[in-house]
Amino acid sequence: MKYKNQFYALIVLFLLSKMAFAQRETLSFDKGWQFHLGDIPFPIITGHGNSYMNAKAGQASGGAAPGFDDKNWRTLNLPHDWAIENPIDSSANLSQGYRNRGFGWYRRKFKIDAADRGKHFEIQFDGIATNATIWVNGTIVHRNWCGYTSSYIDITSLVQYDDNINTIAVRVDANQMEGWWYEGAGIYRHTWLIKRNAIHISTDGVFANPIKLADGSWQIPAEVSLANSGKNAVDVSIEMTVFDKQHKAVANSTSRQNIKALDEKVSKLNLPISNPKLWSFDEPNLYTVETKILQGDTIIDKVTTKCGFRTLRFDANTGFYLNDKPVKIKGTCNHQDHAGVGVAVPNALWKFRIEKLKEMGSNAYRCSHNPPAKEFLDACDSLGMMVMDENRNFNPTPEYVRQLEWLVRRDRNHPSVILWSVFNEEPMQASEQGYEMVRRMSEVVKKLDTTRPVTAAMNWGMFAPINVSLAVDLVGFNYNPQDFEAYHKQHPTFPLTSSEDGSTFMMRGEYVTDRKKATIDSYDTQVPGHGINNRDGWKAVDTKPYMAGCFVWTGFDYHGEPAPYEWPAASSNFGIMDICGFPKSAFYIRQAQWLENKNILELIPHWNWPADSIGKPIKVMALTNAESIKLFLNGKLISEKPVDKYEMVTWMVPYQPGKLEAIGYKSGKKVSASFVETTGDAVSLQLIPDRKSIDNNGTDAITVTVKALDAKGRAVPTANSQLDFKLKGDGEIIGLGNGNPNDHDGEKAIMPENRLASRKLYNGLAQVILQAKGGAVNPLQLTVKATGLKSATASIIIDKVQPIPSVPLFVSELNIEKWTLSKPSATRLDPTKEITDFERNNNWMSVKTGELQQLANNQYIIYNASFKPYPSQQTNGGQLILKNLTGKAEIWINRKLVGTKATAKAEDFVVKFPAYEWLYDLNVLIQADGAQKVGLGGAVKIVD
Ligand code: GAL
Repeated sequence: MKYKNQFYALIVLFLLSKMAFAQRETLSFDKGWQFHLGDIPFPIITGHGNSYMNAKAGQASGGAAPGFDDKNWRTLNLPHDWAIENPIDSSANLSQGYRNRGFGWYRRKFKIDAADRGKHFEIQFDGIATNATIWVNGTIVHRNWCGYTSSYIDITSLVQYDDNINTIAVRVDANQMEGWWYEGAGIYRHTWLIKRNAIHISTDGVFANPIKLADGSWQIPAEVSLANSGKNAVDVSIEMTVFDKQHKAVANSTSRQNIKALDEKVSKLNLPISNPKLWSFDEPNLYTVETKILQGDTIIDKVTTKCGFRTLRFDANTGFYLNDKPVKIKGTCNHQDHAGVGVAVPNALWKFRIEKLKEMGSNAYRCSHNPPAKEFLDACDSLGMMVMDENRNFNPTPEYVRQLEWLVRRDRNHPSVILWSVFNEEPMQASEQGYEMVRRMSEVVKKLDTTRPVTAAMNWGMFAPINVSLAVDLVGFNYNPQDFEAYHKQHPTFPLTSSEDGSTFMMRGEYVTDRKKATIDSYDTQVPGHGINNRDGWKAVDTKPYMAGCFVWTGFDYHGEPAPYEWPAASSNFGIMDICGFPKSAFYIRQAQWLENKNILELIPHWNWPADSIGKPIKVMALTNAESIKLFLNGKLISEKPVDKYEMVTWMVPYQPGKLEAIGYKSGKKVSASFVETTGDAVSLQLIPDRKSIDNNGTDAITVTVKALDAKGRAVPTANSQLDFKLKGDGEIIGLGNGNPNDHDGEKAIMPENRLASRKLYNGLAQVILQAKGGAVNPLQLTVKATGLKSATASIIIDKVQPIPSVPLFVSELNIEKWTLSKPSATRLDPTKEITDFERNNNWMSVKTGELQQLANNQYIIYNASFKPYPSQQTNGGQLILKNLTGKAEIWINRKLVGTKATAKAEDFVVKFPAYEWLYDLNVLIQADGAQKVGLGGAVKIVD
């Protein structure tokens, strides 16, 4: 019996602890938004009464008003980029990829359970391009003028509970630009609703970044920011535990804190850890930090963060050190868009892109020129990719300081982040103003994190008597390799890196530069005035020990900035990979330069030249880290040539169809081999998904590569057929691409039922991005067809995973939200009397449904509202449901009696309203039965 009781007690304790853990709910707010493309002009306010009300909280008008009719808007899920859905248009800005951006509106309704009253509610938009104005329940709650900065909005005081509807409205002005690259348009990152206990850990409130002390020991000097939105001061304890990969606790610390109502406090803890496994790009060991807040023995909040143990150091003479080992930074700069999806990049694509960069031998990524998505940094932590985290707006004034602080607070736990960059190529960089601005911005960073250097990417002016290089910890050179040496001599104690170089133009699979056809060759020769090719760029950095490394412009092509030709090109040509992540020849040059322990040999060009090329010399290049290469054509040795490790090696070979073969040697030993050969025409298609299965959480994505094959199954590098795709199963095609900057076909497969999505192959390749629906059961089956080619089908298995906790979808319904209430009267009030403008000032007050009014003996009140039902209800009429109507009541619409409630007790009351095209004026006259609390005790709903 004794044991049995103990057993039950344990179960109860277990359940209680589970309930306590449920205190914080992080709910995805991505699903079920109403979207309207274009602006919704605000109504022009005239008349005193309207002007008076318009100036009040909760009274926003037009698309921002809770009662606005959005029923016929498009319903979609976030992340969403409407610019990528727009066609390419020669009259639109080339910088933005010739895509019109314009305005858009999003609206989302939701309910909050009455049981949640007293909790803290925050909505989070991780990124909206570009200027956003956000309302909740008709009150403006935030303006975000940066397309790369999150909006964290405490809506606790504004939310309403139970049957009452909460409405979020977001107006996006994407005509505003912050860059000279494609920025997308709309709510393009994830959105969240966070429900927390009134006493809770603030957003980004855990700072737990390990440091190594001078004596070689490790510790986490942690900070926890706590907030109290409740009504009383509270004593809490804070408990932090660090777990290793096997979930073994390796450190623990506790602290106490008293937080007054509506106050914030920071608690400091210290966690020593012995012999941690270090984080590096080869072995990205991560630890988990669990931070719990307890009131008595009850856990009231819990946050889990990751951290990594690693040191970093930039030496003015010998460059960069990770964990005290010298490492050359082999980085790329990148914008944040991808083929088909624009900037609304699914999390899985971050992983896909980082893995491609790692395959190339890259160990670092510069988020040019803006803060990245947080999921991107999570992927860099776990895959092992170092990051230069870059701020967008160069400005030390309060609003921009807030943005910079947000960036550092959000990202400072990530072991992948090794540098803070405060700007890129700013015109004021060589002035006193620029120097003063950076000094201040660097200080903002230092107050929050002293463990990473602050840098700035300068492209000139480093020798000016006063310039920003004098105010940073690490000097970043954009291009200008001719000045590295002179600068290093002038400032021998300043650490230096190339923060940007490259900018080589290259189109995948093209080997002729032809202005008329807008093609650019892939021999690594085409650069703009400020640029440097992949070979010279690396040589300039690799041969100088004091240079920490490089960040090549760019790892991937991106929409916009279509240099050098502009139209018809709509995306860039700078990428080492194209916009789909298919390698260009620069990829193999980088592999040869960067992968020290792997033998690389790749031959360019392809060997499919037309008949009239026979006998004509073709430039052949071996991209290799071998010491010498023997080149054979159709089995005959052409020559053996030594390889310059920076320049690579080239031949001019008179063209003969057949097989061109290269063998690579190191110390006289064969280490690598490669060939290109003349293929037949394409006869069939092949589909290669990047994985076998996809999660059914509604957000996972998978890329599928399309190839054309000849009769012998060889990839045809010149195939350019038009492809048609069809998808069966529970999913959709969310993007199409092929890496050709000149191809204007749509990247979105938005198509009416049964129409096929279509895109061409470009030089033998195309990419399809698929997503499975949330809760999907049926496998995805993608079929591709092209005229004259054998079609192909790929099946992708559905992995059933836990659904992502989400804010429930809202079943479309309208509530009447805006009410005013008369003063109580001992005599019957006249519900047919019009309320004059000036009367509204003092005699009528705003009131919410759900709250009753105490009346004296048999007094009367009137609730007044105007409402506009959905168009179908305007045509056919509908019904009003007055929930919990309390007191005797008469319902009057447009001065006509439509219902009488004879009893005084609380009950749901239904009346019909007639068809009518204009605004309905509604009066609810209520009489108390004796002295009684009366009124609209619940929501008033408009239904069919
Ligand atoms: C750099 C700039 C980049 C990009 C690049 C193109 O000067 O920082 O954003 O425009 O040029 O070459």
